[in-house]
Amino acid sequence: MSDDPLAEAGYLDVPPSAGGAASRSWWDANADEYLDEHGTFLGPADFCWCPEGLREKDARLLGDLNGRRVLEVGAGAAQCSRWLVGEGVDVVATDVSGGMLEAGARYDTDTGRVTPLVQADARVLPFADGSFDVAFTSFGALPFVPDADRVHAEVARVLRTGGRWVFAVTHPVRWAFPDDPGEAGLTATRSYFDRTPYAELGESGSVLYAEYHRTLGDHVGELVAAGFVLDRLVEPEWPAGHDRTWGGWGPVRGARLPGTAIFVTHLGRPPG
Ligand SMILES: C[S@@+](CC[C@H](N)C(=O)[O-])C[C@H]1O[C@@H](n2cnc3c(N)ncnc32)[C@H](O)[C@@H]1O
Repeated sequence: MSDDPLAEAGYLDVPPSAGGAASRSWWDANADEYLDEHGTFLGPADFCWCPEGLREKDARLLGDLNGRRVLEVGAGAAQCSRWLVGEGVDVVATDVSGGMLEAGARYDTDTGRVTPLVQADARVLPFADGSFDVAFTSFGALPFVPDADRVHAEVARVLRTGGRWVFAVTHPVRWAFPDDPGEAGLTATRSYFDRTPYAELGESGSVLYAEYHRTLGDHVGELVAAGFVLDRLVEPEWPAGHDRTWGGWGPVRGARLPGTAIFVTHLGRPPG
């Protein structure tokens, strides 16, 4: 836990540099709590794209990975990469948080799988230009940085031309609704167009946590600027009989609103 107790939470204008830096310390401090809450649903070696439960074994959004070199950014405890290891895929999992990667190393011990884990900010990747065929993240890195354009640019740099970049984020429409899985979460109370981040401040005034909203148009604009071509936008529907809630996600809202947006793209031209 942080030694700066939570004093304020809400939609707050925080300095972008402080917001971007907070993600590492927040995920370090909260890795165990996060995995206690969500680890069972995610599984130690399962590739689940989103709270709707869409799995890569069924969706195949990454395409045929035979002979491909794959990068995961914002991997957390690397559950998705660990599943890919089990499929014989050449994959590297990266995350900015040492705490999340340590949890990943424990999952490796538990499952008997060896997942290559590298600590790295998705905005500054320690890999050579054009060294991967496919990159992906399931809710990693992008929501927690004010400058997601830098993530897209770095992914473009390390991908070969034509390489695939697939990422899942909270569906932007959700931003207009309270983060409540029940009836209260069905009425829009904020502007979809308000980009003020959700932030948590400590008693000292420091930024403990920040999460950033981008509209669909913002995501597409950032992708195009980095040289990507959008191939599909997947909006997984809430499956019948799936009654598990995850934060603001659950069957009540899932029946009416999208919760997740998964962008499937490829690099149309070299960056720069
Ligand atoms: C919601 S988890 C997603 C990971 C995993 N798919 C899961 O569902 O648990 C978000 C992850 O993004 C990572 N993250 C946040 N900011 C990052 C950054 N700038 N670069 C790389 N990873 C980052 C966090 O450390 C955390 O592990």
